[in-house]
Amino acid sequence: MPKPIKTSLLNFVEFPTYGDSRGQLSVAQIGSSLPFEIRRVYWVHGTKPGVSRGFHAHKKLNQICLCMVGNVRMHVFDGKNYDSVILKPEHGGLEIPPNLWHEMHDFSPDCVLAVFTDAEYDESDYIRDRQKFIQYVHTL
Ligand code: TYD
Repeated sequence: MPKPIKTSLLNFVEFPTYGDSRGQLSVAQIGSSLPFEIRRVYWVHGTKPGVSRGFHAHKKLNQICLCMVGNVRMHVFDGKNYDSVILKPEHGGLEIPPNLWHEMHDFSPDCVLAVFTDAEYDESDYIRDRQKFIQYVHTL
């Protein structure tokens, strides 16, 4: 397999922010900033030092990752190419569509990473083996 090269696999959803003398208020709303109806929200927090998470792709699930507090390095891979970003609150939502391998590294101790999804949890939608993922995306 050719060595993966860095390419742009990062798409961000912008959530409008309304600021005034009191501070900031940001909105994720279907029809404007959200590209799908949310059916599940989960969040990753209290991550221990040195821990990485993810290491999977989904066959059908759409996700948007929003770092609410702190930062985390998001690494994505489409079977050929990769990209990465240190995700921070000001980036808005990082889209993780189906068939995109993703890993999360270098969580700051205060990191709160919220994930909006368009479906309920379904283990059969996961591909957790990187080699199997590469084989799978080449059959699409
Ligand atoms: P896991 O898939 O290991 O998380 P990550 O991909 O971030 O490393 O999930 C951790 C546990 O949480 C595992 O037992 C499955 C469970 N879980 C749910 O029950 N519902 C969910 O929506 C998610 C995302 C995980």
